[in-house]
Amino acid sequence: MCGIVGCLGREDAQEVIVKGLKTLEYRGYDSAGVAIHNGEFINRSRARGKLVNLEKKLNEEPIRGNLGIGHTRWATHGPATEKNAHPHMIGGVSVVHNGIIENYAELRDELIAGGSEIYSDTDTELIAHLINIKVKQTNDLLTAVKEVIPRLQGAYAVLVLSERHPDEMVAFTNGPPLLVGFAEKSFIVASDMLAIVPYTKNIAYLSENEVVHIQKDSYKFYSNDLKPIDKKIEEISWSAEQVEKSGYPYYMLKEIFEQPRSMAKSLEPYINIETQSIEMPALESYVSDIKSLEQIYIVSCGTSFYSGMVGEYLLEKMSGVSCKVDIASEFRYRSPKLVKNSLLIVISQSGETADTLAALRLAKEQGVRTLSLCNVQHSSMDRESDIQLYMNAGVEIGVASTKAFICSLSILNLLAGYIAKVNGNMKPEEERALVKSLLATPSHMESVLTYDKFFAEAAERLKDYKGFLYLGRGVNFPIALEGALKLKELAYMHAEGYAAGEMKHGPLALIDEQMAVVMIAPKDDLYDKAISNLETAKARGAQVISIGTVNDERLKNLSINFLSIPEVPWNINPFLAVIPLQLLSLHVASALGHDVDQPRNLAKSVTVE
Ligand code: M6R
Repeated sequence: MCGIVGCLGREDAQEVIVKGLKTLEYRGYDSAGVAIHNGEFINRSRARGKLVNLEKKLNEEPIRGNLGIGHTRWATHGPATEKNAHPHMIGGVSVVHNGIIENYAELRDELIAGGSEIYSDTDTELIAHLINIKVKQTNDLLTAVKEVIPRLQGAYAVLVLSERHPDEMVAFTNGPPLLVGFAEKSFIVASDMLAIVPYTKNIAYLSENEVVHIQKDSYKFYSNDLKPIDKKIEEISWSAEQVEKSGYPYYMLKEIFEQPRSMAKSLEPYINIETQSIEMPALESYVSDIKSLEQIYIVSCGTSFYSGMVGEYLLEKMSGVSCKVDIASEFRYRSPKLVKNSLLIVISQSGETADTLAALRLAKEQGVRTLSLCNVQHSSMDRESDIQLYMNAGVEIGVASTKAFICSLSILNLLAGYIAKVNGNMKPEEERALVKSLLATPSHMESVLTYDKFFAEAAERLKDYKGFLYLGRGVNFPIALEGALKLKELAYMHAEGYAAGEMKHGPLALIDEQMAVVMIAPKDDLYDKAISNLETAKARGAQVISIGTVNDERLKNLSINFLSIPEVPWNINPFLAVIPLQLLSLHVASALGHDVDQPRNLAKSVTVE
């Protein structure tokens, strides 16, 4: 979590850093700050709360200079106060940091015993102290960093400036993402390419335990014991326009409306339009392994976990291979003994979620083949997995994940179809039907997006319910969970997702006139069972908002509001059913006056355990 940006070589370093921090604010927004070297001194400005507070300060008192670092914080050590905001500055050394220093207490005691005065509650300040001591001893910033790195335990990405070194910046990482952008006569270092794309598409990723030393006109990459390393400069495909709101009031709304296009794009690389067949070149060399596959594991967090749950239904039903889904933060703690002939799939928009990454590493340790389904290319999971598939959703900025969810569902459909085809469980005509139904989905999604207007109006009424119960069965059960998560994270309202058949085992007691029940019951093989579950709830006074197949009078009669979706095969229903739920959460949150793109206490990329 936390976003960091550094810039060397541009007169407007402050502007580049603040603009970069704006694109990284999804990583944390508890406080923000910048430190800029003016050739003589490092000046610093920090503010509690969102970036806008720092911007106000900087508008009144700009800081000039062509070398600087900035930070937007998601608090781990110490509350969100100005005192704890980064950059931290000790002596002439200024530091921003993303991650956690695990031996924080030991380093703090040692520094205090050595006579250092500690000003904040953060672990980051300790890094500044340690580097400052070494800079004083060596008068060499790079050597100072090299000597401090072995003292730091945990996951960290750090940018360092030194007052004595007006043309230098050192950056290093042990886990969290860090990229260098090579723009014209300037370098930009950041946690995410979003801060870099407005200036250049040429970037290099720092891997774990790597250091980059940037000077006025040159740069060098090193291992953390300062052995020089060659680094490939890559060209990224994302463009600066993708980072704009394009007239929408929220990134999330823009991203919801982008879903039909994103889904169509996500399918492109994996479909042969002429033959209407699935093509997965990344899996071709594993065909014999797939034929003997005994078990599939899916491990992920949050919304990606719910797409994994949908994936479980898809993979088992289509391919016949046993599939098990786990929440990444629990997975490794049950000491799983993974089946030998298995495949472990990690799903992650960011590709950086710490728990999911740990699951991938555990699978590798046990010799199990790993497949990553990420949105962010070159992310840690993308780099560390054996097989890579991509969501191709484009940049997703809203903290609440929407289009990445849709795109992961489309790839999971294709993956299930591909495995089914390889192991003889899917006939060519079934494969063509699957491809055809997926290609038709974006236009069905367009029609469901018209519910935006309905929820914009209904939100005033919906916000007064005391809670929401989301129900679904089969492949729509994870959609119920996803709907509830969206409402919790955006509207801060109590919401629960349940398998509709479980209601009678307890949750029915929650039902009264103040509890909204959102039923997802499109026509599929569990439809009749879902409706009888709903009738039980209705008989106890449930206020039902339902999502069902067009012309379903039975469901309509049980509901205050019936939202119809087109008639599609069972595996396509989740794509359409989730859209009204995204819109419901967004509009209720907006009616309550919440910040839709930056819900409280959250960050988009969770790189801490
Ligand atoms: O980047 P990831 O897909 O690994 O992120 C996983 C979750 O943190 C994420 O889906 C989170 O639950 C979203 N805020 C949900 O909208």
